[in-house]
Amino acid sequence: MVDLKAAVRAIPDFPKPGIVFRDVTTLMGDPLAFSETIDLLCDAYKAHEIDQIAGIEARGFVFGAALAHRLGIGFVPVRKKGKLPGDTYSQTYDLEYGQDTLEMHKDALSQGQRVLMIDDLLATGGTALAALDLVEKAGGKVVGAAFVVDLPELGGRKKLEARGLDVLTLIEFE
Ligand code: PRP
Ligand code: ADE
Repeated sequence: MVDLKAAVRAIPDFPKPGIVFRDVTTLMGDPLAFSETIDLLCDAYKAHEIDQIAGIEARGFVFGAALAHRLGIGFVPVRKKGKLPGDTYSQTYDLEYGQDTLEMHKDALSQGQRVLMIDDLLATGGTALAALDLVEKAGGKVVGAAFVVDLPELGGRKKLEARGLDVLTLIEFE
């Protein structure tokens, strides 16, 4: 079994003083750790009859696309404001270190499609809640949300579970 936690690098004071940034680019660059991560996600969701993965920009694209390929399903990007070319739904949210806006194409999903949301990291949960609102506006049914890293002190999991979401995280940092 690969030590996924050891594969995530900590960068102090990024992007602001006082934040310890959990950098998963080192995990992505480690073939065994990356492959183990996708294997764990695949095992967790292969029986859930998921139709589409909604991957959250930016690192949710990497894990989400790899998982979608493994599950033989489609991938829908949830992007930062102004990047998607078609008509979009839009949602602004608060972060551990600021505010941002996410968008999703209005026609990205068919009504009632079963969607799994993927991102690299769960902190306050603001990003994932914004993505949940977008997927629901587009007609999808979110059947779960999966993250490689959880920062439990920031309370994201509790917020998502309070909205009825099934949450999976692979590793956590206090
Ligand atoms: C990070 C991370 C999640 C989000 C989690 O992305 O990749 O998407 O923060 O934080 P939350 O649970 O408090 O909402 P970031 O906003 O730094 O953007 P990036 O992916 O463009 O670097
Ligand atoms: N997103 C929000 N907080 C973060 C952190 N500490 N490390 C990496 N991504 C984050």
